[in-house]
Amino acid sequence: MFDNFPLWPDRASSTAGNVDALYIFLLIVSGLMTLLIFAAVVYFAARYRRRPGVPAEQIEGSIPLELTWSIIPLGVFLVIFAWGAVVYFKSRTPPRDATEVYVVAKQWMWKLEHAEGQREINELHVPVGRDVKLIMTSQDVIHSFYVPAFRMKQDVLPGRYTVEWFRATKPGTYHLFCAEYCGTQHSGMIGSIIVMEPAQYEAWMSGGSTGPLSATGEKIFAELGCVTCHRADSQGRGPSLQGVFGKPVLLEDGRTVTADENYVRESILDPGAKVVNGFKPVMPTFQGLVSEEQLNALVAYVKSLSNAGSGGMKANAAAVAVPNPAPVKGSQVNQ
Ligand code: CUA
Repeated sequence: MFDNFPLWPDRASSTAGNVDALYIFLLIVSGLMTLLIFAAVVYFAARYRRRPGVPAEQIEGSIPLELTWSIIPLGVFLVIFAWGAVVYFKSRTPPRDATEVYVVAKQWMWKLEHAEGQREINELHVPVGRDVKLIMTSQDVIHSFYVPAFRMKQDVLPGRYTVEWFRATKPGTYHLFCAEYCGTQHSGMIGSIIVMEPAQYEAWMSGGSTGPLSATGEKIFAELGCVTCHRADSQGRGPSLQGVFGKPVLLEDGRTVTADENYVRESILDPGAKVVNGFKPVMPTFQGLVSEEQLNALVAYVKSLSNAGSGGMKANAAAVAVPNPAPVKGSQVNQ
């Protein structure tokens, strides 16, 4: 019946149903309150209308009544708050083993690169039923990655990474919009998310790759000379990057930060911002020397040093257990 008059976009992700349920709950609560208020206005207007010979009576207040109309709405709002918080945290927390796709926005297009190396423009192919994490940045102004069918929207900012994730539940082609005004062609900054059956997706994936993003990153790492200081054997002038990603890092000033995408990015562009404990701030900045795509590849490479199979995992454990960054046999496991 609503084929030509859809009230909702497709529900094509694992979070879509949760978001809609909360939204429908809000609609019902608002609708009921509106009806209640209208009914009360009409009833009171009739019941207490001015009549000749009946003097008006002033009511000074009623504690039970005031408590009632304070406590009931409080309860309703707390339900909305708790429900909303649960839906929000679920939709903001990418699952640990999600497939990663790097997104670079620019006026006025979306550039996407799979961890496996496939590049796309204004199109993103994903398999049904797999968690996909988008690591996004912009090379000019603020954009916003918005897929209504997935009930997912996240601003994409210059100078740092933002993240969003989804699990597509239904094959099909879905709209991708830029949802932040970004200049003349903002409305033309659109694309498609193409959700495929896994077998179909594997076939698509097998063509046109330039090799994994992390391998591209490793090449850049060597070309820029990073490898001369960040040696795997911890004997270089910079900290070894083996098994660092995702782990807490103790800094020179006593703070501890988590080595996430934004930390790696900042350390490349502004190396003096967070110097690792035990090292000198000798690294030059690479601001202006690497493109957003190259940065993504470098981040993917540093990340790959931390999750290259079980050997890598063991290396991580050793690196964390021993606070001194000096030679740790376990952390030199071949990657
Ligand atoms: Cu990009 Cu609007």
